[in-house]
Amino acid sequence: MVYLQSARIHLEGRLLAYWDELSTEGEEAIMHETLEKTRPRRTKRKPRKKVLHRLIENDMILTASSDEYRKKVKRVYGGPKGALLAVSSMVSLHIPLGERLFKTRKFDLTGMNSVLDIGSGAGQIASHLLKYGDPNIQVTCTDLSSQMLRRARNRLKSTRPDFVAADLAHLPFADGSFDGVTCGYVLEHLPDPRPGLAEMARVLSKGGRMLLLATEDSFSGAWTSRLWYCRTFNRPELKKLCEELGLRWKQELWFTPVHKVMRAGGICVEIEKV
Ligand SMILES: C[S@@+](CC[C@H](N)C(=O)[O-])C[C@H]1O[C@@H](n2cnc3c(N)ncnc32)[C@H](O)[C@@H]1O
Repeated sequence: MVYLQSARIHLEGRLLAYWDELSTEGEEAIMHETLEKTRPRRTKRKPRKKVLHRLIENDMILTASSDEYRKKVKRVYGGPKGALLAVSSMVSLHIPLGERLFKTRKFDLTGMNSVLDIGSGAGQIASHLLKYGDPNIQVTCTDLSSQMLRRARNRLKSTRPDFVAADLAHLPFADGSFDGVTCGYVLEHLPDPRPGLAEMARVLSKGGRMLLLATEDSFSGAWTSRLWYCRTFNRPELKKLCEELGLRWKQELWFTPVHKVMRAGGICVEIEKV
């Protein structure tokens, strides 16, 4: 801030010296305009992370090159931590609480023909899709880690889904291929979520719906970041970004009424492509 102010004073000083040399009214008008343009605009201040959250969070996603980071993600999920993903999702109640969203039709699969599950992991969400979707629903599971896809295949014990290794930021599907997308705790593995959200918007048909779960900037979110080398999201910022890409937040969901009161459980939202 101090730096910006002194830069401004310096710049205005230079411009004022130049002003003295100007004589005609037309030039004065140009000068006024130039000064106005150099004046710093008051912009809405970006929400800042709490110091404690910043201390706990792992910042590799922001500091490593994108190649290094992708390799790290593949290694983490391909290794022992990934092997325990299904168990830890059960212990953290992610599987049973996630199932409630589908069972109670808070995220209603009725009428959906083809659903893409992005970052399927151990197939936690895909299993709900197979259980609560219409009998003819076509489920496609994707993941950056082919090892995780193998685990999902073994765990789901179903021949119905297709399994495709793919990066969320470069989905190998045609525009509008799916009328539903689910994406649970994957977007936080992109340093910049915009390309991933744009890809999800692209493959979703108009009016198609998406269930997005994401790690929020909170105390527990900071620990998730530390454990899984991911980033966290500020809710209003993520919402704004989605809406810029034509992804309207239809309803914010909560796993239970207690989660809603305590604003816990992270970002869970039903999105519609407009
Ligand atoms: C925390 S797990 C989520 C599993 C499951 N979706 C759930 O809701 O529990 C994150 C998964 O996303 C995958 N992943 C990470 N970055 C990805 C990317 N850029 N594209 C696709 N998948 C990615 C990881 O390999 C991992 O299997």
